Amino acid sequence: MTHKVKAAVFASGSGSNFQAIMEADTACEIVLLVCDKAGAAVVEKAATHQVPVLTFNPKDYSSKAEYEQMLQQKLTEAGVEWIFLAGYMRLIGPVLLQTFPERIINIHPSLLPAFPGKDAIGQALAAGARQTGVTVHYIDEGIDTGPVIAQATLDVSPADNEATLKQKIQRLEHQLYPQVINQLILEK
Ligand code: GRF
Repeated sequence: MTHKVKAAVFASGSGSNFQAIMEADTACEIVLLVCDKAGAAVVEKAATHQVPVLTFNPKDYSSKAEYEQMLQQKLTEAGVEWIFLAGYMRLIGPVLLQTFPERIINIHPSLLPAFPGKDAIGQALAAGARQTGVTVHYIDEGIDTGPVIAQATLDVSPADNEATLKQKIQRLEHQLYPQVINQLILEK
């Protein structure tokens, strides 16, 4: 068997992108799911795929630096080289950014720099955008401000609402994210 690069996924929610990564034939092995919400659906998805889960409650720590030091230790012990954020609802701080330079990536449901932050799909609809899409980008200190790696575009139809647009966006995310992950790992 060929050696696979070890990676972790960070997620806080339903985990459909986590699942897409698990089901794709990528050049990495997901050795840890990190989740900051104990009851999140992604935790059950990890169990189904036999991926070890690390859940933590940020409120149990005095600062971001403190819980990121805990995460850093666990990630290092697990041999993690890449971190893929998939609906992780927290900003990454200096501890993890310095440990994994250009090795933390994120997927966002808009064509950045348009519609950063929360509810990007609702923002696109409210703005009457004729096109939107998804962006895979490196993480930096800001909110969805890191360098763009790849984007995919889709048309917004006048009949679209939050639910239909979300469905279209997620279909695109599930194709693009595993593809870009693979490409990045093979390039480095
Ligand atoms: C995705 O739309 C992703 O772009 C955003 O958060 C959402 C996570 O969805 N960052 P899921 O938990 O992967 O289903």
